[in-house]
Amino acid sequence: MTPDLFSTLAPQPARVTLVPLAPGAVLLRQRALAQAEALLAGVAEVTAVAPFRWMSTPNGYRMSVAMTNCGALGWVSDATGYRYAPLDPARDAPWPAMPAAFLELARQAAADAGFPAFEPDACLVNRYAPGARLSLHQDRNEHDFSQPIVSVSLGLPAAFQFGGLRRGDPVTRYLLEHGDVVVWGGPARLRYHGVLALKDGEHAATGACRINLTFRRAGRV
Ligand code: SIN
Ligand code: FE2
Repeated sequence: MTPDLFSTLAPQPARVTLVPLAPGAVLLRQRALAQAEALLAGVAEVTAVAPFRWMSTPNGYRMSVAMTNCGALGWVSDATGYRYAPLDPARDAPWPAMPAAFLELARQAAADAGFPAFEPDACLVNRYAPGARLSLHQDRNEHDFSQPIVSVSLGLPAAFQFGGLRRGDPVTRYLLEHGDVVVWGGPARLRYHGVLALKDGEHAATGACRINLTFRRAGRV
């Protein structure tokens, strides 16, 4: 190979590295980088049917993160609480199916993290504009906690906080970048986590936002 075959514009091959966060939790850096374009095409397909919207919390605040879902079940929040629903309340129709690229990546990343039998039925699609944040919480609306969470980051980087099993436990901060995947399950399944306010920026793949795909098994296994 001669040096002129390399272009600074050519996409670099992914260098996947595994960062252990806690027993049952791992950050797979760049794990979704090679699939990022296909995943973003999937986001465009999903949001053409079920557009991003800002949901309200049970105490009446509008969430700063815009959300939608795909898969058999979708996570929704309104005045009555948080839950999974088979119908999109904004359209009174089923959520769009999970694009094949989503399902494949979620299964592979879970397997890489030591969860070989992950069968997600829900994918929450989060869009963070600069300033949007997600306060520290547990993912606990799912039917059982035997399956992990697979969380894919695309676009602008975000500061992810990963804590313990109690809200007051110390948190560690990780910068999640385009193509990074975090998986937590088993003893880490109910660990608190959150995302600090997104900083201003512009990303070649997404523009001025961050997209996060959170895959879960929400219904009965
Ligand atoms: C979530 O906890 O649902 C999203 C986490 C993230 O955006 O990285
Ligand atoms: Fe979460």
